[in-house]
Amino acid sequence: MTRIVQPNQAALDEAVQRLRAGQPVAFPTETVYGLGADASRAEAVNAVYRLKGRPSDHPLIVHVAEMERVHDFAADLSPHAERLMERFWPGPLTLVLPRAPGVLDEVTAGQDTVAVRMPQHPVALDLIQAFEGGLVAPSANRYGHTSPSNAGHVAEEFAGADLLVLDGGPCSVGIESTIVDVTGPTPRVLRPGHVSSAAIHHALGLEANTTTAPDPRPRPRVSGDRARHYAPRTPTHLRPASKIDVNQAKAAKAFVVARTVDLTDLTPDQWLKLPSDPEGYARALYDALRRADRAGFSAIWVEQPPDETPWVAVNDRLRRACTPASATD
Ligand code: TXA
Ligand code: MG
Repeated sequence: MTRIVQPNQAALDEAVQRLRAGQPVAFPTETVYGLGADASRAEAVNAVYRLKGRPSDHPLIVHVAEMERVHDFAADLSPHAERLMERFWPGPLTLVLPRAPGVLDEVTAGQDTVAVRMPQHPVALDLIQAFEGGLVAPSANRYGHTSPSNAGHVAEEFAGADLLVLDGGPCSVGIESTIVDVTGPTPRVLRPGHVSSAAIHHALGLEANTTTAPDPRPRPRVSGDRARHYAPRTPTHLRPASKIDVNQAKAAKAFVVARTVDLTDLTPDQWLKLPSDPEGYARALYDALRRADRAGFSAIWVEQPPDETPWVAVNDRLRRACTPASATD
């Protein structure tokens, strides 16, 4: 049975015991909930792949609670890497670094790089510190599903599994961390997130457009790269505000996730409205998609947010959520 517990000392002790026994434990981070396991044990990492139903060629992020722990996993920190750690850790930024010898192939999917981050959520930091090691932690959802932004979402995903879920409340960021590859001469953002490309370039004193320079290196595998990801089961479509009205929504049996339009003629179980600013929107997005999905409509219509820089991370997740199931690989 999945068990949601308040993160008191007894719960942290039990979580550490489980992790030491090679079992996954779900815990909150400021981005989304993670499915944690001992990054130094192949059986523990494999248990995470099994529970998620994730293909084993998808590398995982190692979570640490102290800067010095990075050296257990990364071979070499470039000045860019050190600067970004100083500026953004703990926080929603994952760095792709050269892999240290001894890091498991199960963690890196056999690549010569490793992804590491230091989360900001106090419960995540307490857990990792008490565990005294690195934790791999993919988002605590089944492969391809919408990521969880509260403890209830995790329980929904893994109902029936013997899983301890530390409840740290709703996630303050609400979408997954920014991933930046700092193994080359110029940083490359592999997954947009709350820490923007502009903020990264600013911290490094680089011109904002340096990531667009041609880079001969092959793109690493990023599971968020797959066209369909973060997806509800109900077919989901982005629609401009001008193409959303009550009659059309009713005719299409569509649940509407609005941002600016008001559909007060629909009943509250047929639509919801998200905050109009990008941070508030990101925080509420996954819960909204899950509620829309549970409502049992034929479609979900999402009012298209502006095609502007502050919306890059949200638009990335929405695009993937709206890719038809036939595009799943
Ligand atoms: O916010 C987050 O990052 C959350 C929380 C729990 O920390 N975790 C998360 O993990 O989103 P996951 O496994 O759902 O996504 C990890 C992403 C994948 O897209 C994976 O391909 C990429 O990180 N990744 C991991 N190692 C990598 C590497 N060495 N090079 C490039 N991408 C890598
Ligand atoms: Mg994920």
